[in-house]
Amino acid sequence: MHFPSIILRRRRDDLTLPLPPGATYRFPDGFLWGAATSSHQVEGDNERSDWWRFERLDGKVRQFRSYSAQAQRYKSDHWRRFSDDIAMMHADLGLTSYRFSLEWSRIEPAPGRFDQSVIDRYARMCAAMRDVGIAPMVTLFHWSSPDWIWDHDREDSTGWYAPQIVEHFERFCTRVVTALADHVDLFVTINEPNVFLYGGYAEGILAPGHRRKDEALLTVQRNLLRCHVAAYRAIKRIRPTAQVGLAHHYCPFEPHGNWNPLEAWVAGRVEQGFTWAFPDAIRDGAFTFAIRQARRPRFHTEQVPDLKGTADFMGVNFYERMLVKVPAAVRLSRMTIVHEHESDKEIWPAGIHTRRFVDVLQEVQRRYGLPIYVTENGQAHTDDDCRRGFIRQHLGALGHAVNELGIDVRGYYYWSLLDNQEWAHGFLPRLGLYAVDYETGQRQLRGSAKMYAQIIADGCVTTPG
Ligand code: FCB
Repeated sequence: MHFPSIILRRRRDDLTLPLPPGATYRFPDGFLWGAATSSHQVEGDNERSDWWRFERLDGKVRQFRSYSAQAQRYKSDHWRRFSDDIAMMHADLGLTSYRFSLEWSRIEPAPGRFDQSVIDRYARMCAAMRDVGIAPMVTLFHWSSPDWIWDHDREDSTGWYAPQIVEHFERFCTRVVTALADHVDLFVTINEPNVFLYGGYAEGILAPGHRRKDEALLTVQRNLLRCHVAAYRAIKRIRPTAQVGLAHHYCPFEPHGNWNPLEAWVAGRVEQGFTWAFPDAIRDGAFTFAIRQARRPRFHTEQVPDLKGTADFMGVNFYERMLVKVPAAVRLSRMTIVHEHESDKEIWPAGIHTRRFVDVLQEVQRRYGLPIYVTENGQAHTDDDCRRGFIRQHLGALGHAVNELGIDVRGYYYWSLLDNQEWAHGFLPRLGLYAVDYETGQRQLRGSAKMYAQIIADGCVTTPG
């Protein structure tokens, strides 16, 4: 049995990195300026996915039925408007990269039956991006699976619990990567396996909406890592020069108060399990998982064949730090994660956590020594001036990290290009560089996006004077 080291965390509320006023930070030549989306959140009309089914169940997505049939079906209408959206992101923003995901359920509507016209369309979109100087970064799995992976009468032994998911995913990856390889240099295997695992299988707020523990979670974690290996190997077989990484949700955890040593310890353990377990596993070829036994954690370590070293870069999705609360009458099972945002997530993240952003970048570089792309960072806000401040502060912190701390960051992708369905929070949170009118599908460039476009054109960011 393995006993991980004791890490104690402290709560510190100095969240924003002070930057010298009026400082200018230049980004390296070839730095990729991007925006990101995921297929289920923006494309629309992917009725064969498990998310499509899930969001139509009662109470799964906030106010889902109060939106028009158009919004429910077409979301941000990206599938139909793909070409126009590429032209727009080039002309308005000057993006040099676009991160998007492939909708597996659209590509493979039935097991082993591929829709070549869909694959061709994705290939044409990648080619169209290249034509205007936008490097596609393709995510192979961003949380929506074909619904056929599930038997809904036996969910606990099918879908992401079943070992067959690895063969299914490998077959899908081989097929799409073969078609896209000529146009794509940057691939993400899986988006945020940690949020997918805990959100979908422990908290039950993402599809499939389960609340499971221990062995069930361990199984899904194992399958996610095996799918990552299968995707990495498939890409390298087909296109050895492609750069492949994981886009991961990096979240620092701190205790809610500074008086309870148990809380300080739990915060460290939660951070290790949630934030670092997946990328550490890629570094080490094995993962460690805490299982509760007699109300105490037992640490289970497991090798994953061929996993070690399966990343050429680390994709960092960063939004905020989180707090962990353990009630005084010690019961670990009563631990809660405190979300520092309004319950409807209309304003999220509530603050600007740029000190933690830089800490995370430093720690990722220290642990893995690989080039980094910031594959997601953004804010939902009702006031676009706040979003403007959020972007400038994060790019200032990033400029500082690159220029003064020597961190090898190769690109930044704002989340998101478009307002979209923020999963279970529905359409209320607005994160887009473009505001989307969900009735008509019309896009409108926000003021904060114009500021981002100016930073891209200048190749540098100046901190507020
Ligand atoms: C990330 C997800 C992305 C989006 C943003 C706001 O956790 O990867 O799909 O929901 O959060």
